Amino acid sequence: MKTVTLIPGDGIGPEITQAVVEILNAAGAEIEWDTQSAGADVIEKEGTPLPKRVIESIKRNKVALKAPVTTPIGQGFRSVNVQLRKSLDLYANLRPSKNIEGIKTRFDNVDLVIVRENTEDLYAGIERQIDEDTAESIKIITRKASLRIAEFAFNYAVKNNRKTVHAVSKANICKLTDGLFLNCTKKTAEKYPQIEYKEILVDNLCMQLVQNPEKFDVLVLPNLYGDIVSDLCAGLTGGLGIAQGANIGDNIAVFEPVHGSAPDIKGQNKANPTALLLSAIEMLKYLGQSDTAKRIETALFKTIKEGKALTNDLSGNATTKEYTDTIISNL
Ligand code: NAI
Repeated sequence: MKTVTLIPGDGIGPEITQAVVEILNAAGAEIEWDTQSAGADVIEKEGTPLPKRVIESIKRNKVALKAPVTTPIGQGFRSVNVQLRKSLDLYANLRPSKNIEGIKTRFDNVDLVIVRENTEDLYAGIERQIDEDTAESIKIITRKASLRIAEFAFNYAVKNNRKTVHAVSKANICKLTDGLFLNCTKKTAEKYPQIEYKEILVDNLCMQLVQNPEKFDVLVLPNLYGDIVSDLCAGLTGGLGIAQGANIGDNIAVFEPVHGSAPDIKGQNKANPTALLLSAIEMLKYLGQSDTAKRIETALFKTIKEGKALTNDLSGNATTKEYTDTIISNL
């Protein structure tokens, strides 16, 4: 039995968390949950959306499954997600994007992986108001973080039989910052001659991704471009409801979907739990419970392929509960 920190988050977080926990329990996953609330719902009582106990729990258990947490736009608290990734030094954000049989999209040949740097860039949160009409934000890129994420991307490529790594930047404009990032990816590429190394500007990448996504394999990006491009890639394969992710550090991993707390559908029994479920499946593999992971994956893909009980975002009309029950019956 492995103890895992469970952060149900807010918005649709608690609904999709309940669905995923039910599925994992039904599949016999050997997990004991250490549930830690965080986000909008705990601010009033604890004065912060990310109480220390949450970080301590993850440090203790080394593995967490996290549902989304709301960040107020333009004011208030710093993002829980950014704080969490930074304080646990979860430097790699891994976001695979692959077609799933049964989900109709413009493409059927997307199979790429985004490796997003997770600790710096504009997410360092160094902003100031210069005067009433001017504000500035500082983009930080360091050699240490860039070499580390490049190493992670190439190492991932080798271990997962990937062929190509594209380093993504806007180094034509951000000559020093993105230039440093590219120097680091280039230098790292020399250590991995078996992997083809290419560079691409982020605007060109976006255009090519929506025309020929099959051209791409592993993408390594600084934080902000990684954030934006991963939503784009979610759109290529069926939307945010199915886009999984993981934040990985040297000995801690937090598995969480790409999507946010979706306040527009909160509490309506409409949310798609697939992205969190796929993240949980990766977590089970990481924990060495691959047989259970495989059983859940098979039941999930069968449910989607049958297409009888899909949630709204996948053009179905099943509720979260009906979708969850169908996956469980397919286990
Ligand atoms: P969002 O990802 O929450 O929603 C974007 C659109 O996708 C909405 O129409 C929503 O209904 C839909 N959607 C998202 N997940 C879905 C699911 N599982 N099933 C069905 N439909 C789904 O992005 P938005 O609205 O920009 O952000 C809302 C809040 O979430 C913000 O406070 C943001 O900061 C936060 N956020 C949190 C993240 C995290 O905790 N890792 C990541 C991204 C955003």
